[in-house]
Amino acid sequence: MIPLLDLQAQYRSIKKEVDDSIHKVLDSQYFIMGESVKDFEKEVNRYTKANHSLGCASGSDALLLALMAIDIEPGDYVITSPFTFFATAGAISRLGAIPIFIDIEHHSFNIDPEKIREFLEGESDLAKKLQIPIEKIKAIIPVHLYGQMADMDPIMEIAKEYDLFVIEDAAQSIGSKCKGKDAGTIGDFGCFSFFPSKNLGAYGDGGLITVKNDALAEKTNILRLHGAKPKYHHKYVGINSRLDAIQAAVLSVKLKYLNEWSQRRNEIAHLYNSLFQESGLVSEYEGCSECESHSSCEFPDGKIVLPKETTGAPEENGFHIYHQYTVRVKNRDGLSEFLDSEKIGNAVYYPVPLHIQECFSDLGYAAEDCPNAVCASRTAISLPIFPELADEQVKEVARKISQFMS
Ligand SMILES: Cc1ncc(COP(=O)(O)O)c(C=O)c1O
Repeated sequence: MIPLLDLQAQYRSIKKEVDDSIHKVLDSQYFIMGESVKDFEKEVNRYTKANHSLGCASGSDALLLALMAIDIEPGDYVITSPFTFFATAGAISRLGAIPIFIDIEHHSFNIDPEKIREFLEGESDLAKKLQIPIEKIKAIIPVHLYGQMADMDPIMEIAKEYDLFVIEDAAQSIGSKCKGKDAGTIGDFGCFSFFPSKNLGAYGDGGLITVKNDALAEKTNILRLHGAKPKYHHKYVGINSRLDAIQAAVLSVKLKYLNEWSQRRNEIAHLYNSLFQESGLVSEYEGCSECESHSSCEFPDGKIVLPKETTGAPEENGFHIYHQYTVRVKNRDGLSEFLDSEKIGNAVYYPVPLHIQECFSDLGYAAEDCPNAVCASRTAISLPIFPELADEQVKEVARKISQFMS
């Protein structure tokens, strides 16, 4: 049995340090916004080289707080990716605003900056169909999916041109780099999740927001504390969203190992790549115009499409932290069933893109508005990857997949 992720192996390797750190909080009986939270915020600030780091209750709240800090309100629009976890768009909708889903690049799984530009220039079919007043579009949330950053340079250029805020959804990407810059420090805000399965995972929920601008950092800080400053004097209608002191104590221990862990994930990904290359089953994929009808889709049959390092490529001064190692195959569901039967962990992130989710059906999207997201949702499958995974296990997974494919 090879699991998708083995958190127990990780805990065993750092048990004493983590237990001591939790006990320190228990001894202090200081559970809300105590020293452990302040220390962890400082450590993340150093790690990411951000201007400000503010802990909060989850990655979902980090997104919500960032949107609240820039006064997103009902009737506003925010551009984001259709191929992400629901929370990215959920945060927009919770404020009464409306997500605009712009398709992803088929090779990186991240939002396509060129398509954002075409949309804002009113030239894309989607722009013509939705007819959104441009002055109502307030921000872009690029998502750094699977541990690789979206192409931030063109996104920042477009944001400057159209006067839009940029909120990086870095929930899956702490420690990843694009042109030498850290995830979460290029846009106005960076939103991180410490959900247990993340590369830096807490023992419960947790999140953090990095903020560039001093005034917005101050406002975000107040918003996470019911909008009060000083206590019981409410400047804004905020929320209760703080990073738990016990979680911060756990995360401080884990942060020290994060680079080592990310390096090992990166190594495992490259080992998978070379094993699949050796199997002769690898194919390139250049996108497809027929993905809505998967049966006639041009996706190469019987072949594996490997994840591409784009912004994460070392020659681009990038780093991919491989939160997920995700390959693509035409018969994805068949492969998933086969791996289940072989007791090899696998997961589909994400089987339904957001633009065609039932809860967004009133927004007027059709599947073909984001064809690359639809294709990814039908072909992507994530394989076991975690720092403690042994080379032998990686070889076994690759061998079984090659057996199935051929
Ligand atoms: C891309 C993305 N955005 C947002 C979130 C939300 O984070 P959380 O689960 O901590 O609320 C997640 C994590 O699950 C995520 O993967």
